[in-house]
Amino acid sequence: MDYRQIIVDSIKSDFDKAELLSLVAVPKDTAMADLCIPCFKLAKVLKKSPMAIAEQIAASVDKGDMIASVEAVAGFVNFKFDNMKYGKKVLDEVLSKGENYGHDDEGKDKTICIDYSSVNIAKPFHMGHMLNTAIGAAIYRTYTALGYNVVGINHLGDWGTQFGKLIVAYKLWGNKEDIDKRGVRGLLDIYVKFHKEAEQKPELEDEARAWFKAIEDGNEEALSLFDYFKQITLKEVNKVYDRLNVKFDSYAGESFYNDKMQPVLDELTQKGLLVESDGAKVVKFPNDEMPPCLLQRSDGATLYATRDMAAAYYRKKTYDFYKCLYVVAYQQNLHFKQIFKVLEMAGNEWAKDMVHIAHGMVSLENGSMSTRDGNVVFLEDVLNTAVAKAKEVIDSKNPNLEDKEATAEKVGVGAVIFGMLYNGRIKDIVFSFDKVLNFDGETGPYVQYTYARCNSLFEKCGQIGTEIDYKGIDNESSKEILKLLEKYPETIKESARKYEPSVITRYVVDLAQAFNKFYFEHKINGEAEGIKNSRLMLTKAVQQVIGNGLGLLGIATPSKM
Ligand code: ARG
Repeated sequence: MDYRQIIVDSIKSDFDKAELLSLVAVPKDTAMADLCIPCFKLAKVLKKSPMAIAEQIAASVDKGDMIASVEAVAGFVNFKFDNMKYGKKVLDEVLSKGENYGHDDEGKDKTICIDYSSVNIAKPFHMGHMLNTAIGAAIYRTYTALGYNVVGINHLGDWGTQFGKLIVAYKLWGNKEDIDKRGVRGLLDIYVKFHKEAEQKPELEDEARAWFKAIEDGNEEALSLFDYFKQITLKEVNKVYDRLNVKFDSYAGESFYNDKMQPVLDELTQKGLLVESDGAKVVKFPNDEMPPCLLQRSDGATLYATRDMAAAYYRKKTYDFYKCLYVVAYQQNLHFKQIFKVLEMAGNEWAKDMVHIAHGMVSLENGSMSTRDGNVVFLEDVLNTAVAKAKEVIDSKNPNLEDKEATAEKVGVGAVIFGMLYNGRIKDIVFSFDKVLNFDGETGPYVQYTYARCNSLFEKCGQIGTEIDYKGIDNESSKEILKLLEKYPETIKESARKYEPSVITRYVVDLAQAFNKFYFEHKINGEAEGIKNSRLMLTKAVQQVIGNGLGLLGIATPSKM
C-alpha cells in the first residue's frame, strides 16, 4: 500500500516519476486534499509557472478506482481518495500486519551501537538518567523495528578515584548488612561521610589514592570491594530497568577499557596528533576551534575521554557498526565533538558515523521532592510515587477494577516515561506528577485509556463480524483516523531518522484524539451489522497501532483501566 505511488502512477503526462514521488506531500489543510503535489520546484526547473504545471498534471490524471477527485489549485495538484476503498485498503493493511505494522527491513545487515543510560556505579540512579534511559531505549526499539541489528551498550561509569574513597569509607564505617539492604543509599552515606571527615583529616585522601592504585594494580581485596560496589549498584539499577522494560546487550563500562587505551595513545602519538602540554598529553585542533582534548594527565592517569576513545575503536572493531550513537545530555556536547574530531583527524573515515544524541535536563516542579536522602531524587521513588498516584485515580474512577495494582504500575510508570518523551529531546523538562498523570491531557494515561476503551467496546459489541459495509467509515472523523494510520510507518522512520521519540509520542496522542472524536460523533453499538463491523475494524486498527507505538516507547498497554 503506497498512496504516494498510486498518485504518481495515475499521472500520465511526461514527468520524471521519481521526482514526482519525492514531491508528494500531506497538505497543510487536510480538508482540501488527502495528498498533494506542490509544483514550485518543477516550475523553477521547467521555467513555467507552477499554476500551468499543476493544470497540466491534473489534466493528465487517470483516476482509476482509488482516486475520487483531482484538482489544480494555486500551483498545487490536490488529490482526494475514495473514502471507502481507501479505508478498506488501510484497514486490511494494518490488521493483516498486526504487531508488525510499521516494521521495515531498511536496516537489514546494518548494525547500530547505541550507548545509553550508562549509569555511574555507587551513584544514585536519578531523574536525569531516566530521561536518558527512556530516550535511548525508545531509539533502540525503533531501530530494531526497522530491521537494524541494534547493540545496546551501558557504558558504566565504573572507574575513577572515587572508588578509592569508597573503599576507605567502607573499611572505616561500612556495614555490609546495611549496604546489602539499603544499596546505593548506604554507599552514598559513607561516601558523604568520607568527604566530611577528609576536611579534618586530609590523610584520608592519600589512603584513597593508594586504594585506587591498588584497584589499578589488580590487588585482590581492592578488586573484590570494587566488584561488590558494582554488584550492589547493578542490582538496584536492574530493578528499575525491569520496571522500565529496558535491556542491554553489553555492560562494558569504563573499566573495561583499562587495557585498551595504551594502543590508542600510541597510535595518536605515532600520527603526530598526541603532543605534550605542561607535562600532560593532549590533541590540539586546527585553528584552536575547540579546547585541546586532554587524554593523559601529567601523572600518567587517563581520563573519561581516553576511555571513550578506546571504546570507539573497540566498538568499530567488534561490531563494525553502521552508526554509533551516544545518548548523553547536552552538557557533554564539547566532549563528543572532541572525541569525534580526534577520530577523524586520526584518519578513521567511520568518524562520520558517530552521533551524539544530546538531550536536556530534568528538574522537579517545586525544586525537590521529599526524600530521606537530601537533594538527590532517586528514580525508584519517582516511579513509586507515580504508581501510588495512578492507583488513587483508578480507585476513584474505577474502584471495582480487577488487578488494580498491576494496572497502577503500568499507568504510573507509563506516565513517567511518556512525560519524558513528549517534548523534543533537547528541551529541559520540569517534571510534574500532576501533569504526566492527567488522564485528560496529552499524556500516557490518556493514550492508555483510549487503548483500554477499545477493549470495552469489543466487550459490548462482540468481535468483528464478516458482513462489512465501508459506509460506516465514510465520514470525516474516520478519514482523519485512516490518514493517521497510513502515516504510521513513515512516522516510525521519521522518529528514527531524527533520533526523536517525541515524533511517536505526539503521533499516538493525535491518533488517540482522532479516535475519541470519532467515537464521540459516531455510534458503533446498535448500528446496522455492516456499519458496526467497519467501525469495529477501525477501532481494532487504532488499538493495534496505539499498542505498537506505545510498545516502541516502552509503555505497557493495560487491557482495562
Ligand atoms: N556515565 C556518564 C554520565 O553519567 C555517561 C556516559 C556516556 N557514555 C559515554 N560513552 N561517554 O555522565
